[in-house]
Amino acid sequence: METIVPEQVETLKKQFQTDLAGVKDLAALSALRDKYMGRKSGLVHALIKQIGRVPREERRAFGQAVNELKTYVESSLERLRADLEARVQAEQLERERVDITLPGLRPRFGHPHPITRMRQRIEDIFVAMGYTVEDGPEVETSFYNFDALNIPPGHPAREAQDTLYLSSDIALRTQTSTVQIRTMERRRPPLRIIAPGKVFRRDTPDPTHNPMFYQVEGLTVDRNIHMGHLKGTLQEFVRRMFGPEVKTRFRPSYFPFVEPGAEVDYSCFLCFGRGCRVCKGAGWIELGGCGMVHPKVLRGVGIDPEEFTGFAFGLGIDRMAALIYGIDDIRLLYENDTRFLEQFGL
Ligand code: FA5
Repeated sequence: METIVPEQVETLKKQFQTDLAGVKDLAALSALRDKYMGRKSGLVHALIKQIGRVPREERRAFGQAVNELKTYVESSLERLRADLEARVQAEQLERERVDITLPGLRPRFGHPHPITRMRQRIEDIFVAMGYTVEDGPEVETSFYNFDALNIPPGHPAREAQDTLYLSSDIALRTQTSTVQIRTMERRRPPLRIIAPGKVFRRDTPDPTHNPMFYQVEGLTVDRNIHMGHLKGTLQEFVRRMFGPEVKTRFRPSYFPFVEPGAEVDYSCFLCFGRGCRVCKGAGWIELGGCGMVHPKVLRGVGIDPEEFTGFAFGLGIDRMAALIYGIDDIRLLYENDTRFLEQFGL
């Protein structure tokens, strides 16, 4: 017998199919389920409730049609739910996909700054010669930066090193020679110390000058120390730093805290004195200042210059680093451009 599907059921099925086609996500699907299958006001349930009110002869066909509609709606909802869930999962998997064929990211290792490496090399050389490494404050009183170093107020040497003052009596140290005084105040001879560190001057920046740069101070005080010890020590330092063929030369010079004073140069480690681009044709490169500690300086810290003598030196680390690493402008060392600094890895 052909079932006559009542019109009402057929209309609702069509409406459901239209609604179903518009469902794009699980939230809309849930709303659709409520609309048709909700216990209280679901449209299919409304039809189920009507079954009893249909005339007896039509009731069976109507009931069957409603039941079929209910099954149809349920299975359609269920199928779409499975589809939507699968789609959500697939999208999530795609979003979180890890391409394991891509090469891994290599961690970028840092390395010491060229100045730090230079400083470590200098320290290693002097420590091997029996020196200890001392430190001192970068903010100093005029006493340690000048007076105790035999540079009284009005002395032209105060003007020679353009000082950055913080107040009338406090300044950024212009030289590591301050550590000579601080060490001799604390410790008695025999003394063999180096003091590497930052110093500051109101110098106009250029390829060989920076307002902040590094020096390494050296100080030896003992009985019977003479100029020969100073020359031998710096010659040995230069030999270990630049190579056995490199020579030193001493030119008389003046620093108020030494007597006699000298500038020390070393023969160019590239051309060995013949003249080249590194030494600018001179064959010699300036290393720093040095001399025998002035008796006034020793007396000032309570060391008897009749009993003890000493030598001191102060070398520029930046220019040494620039020469060794082939850098033609020391200001590059302070720009913190990692592309530049990366070249000087170990
Ligand atoms: C002094 O500072 C003395 N204290 C050195 C000294 C110590 C002499 C102990 C005697 C005994 P001078 O001003 O020449 O000396 O500086 C020493 C070195 O610092 C120079 O040879 C140079 O290599 C470096 N230097 C000086 N000014 C600058 C600058 N603006 N930038 C980079 N390096 C500099």
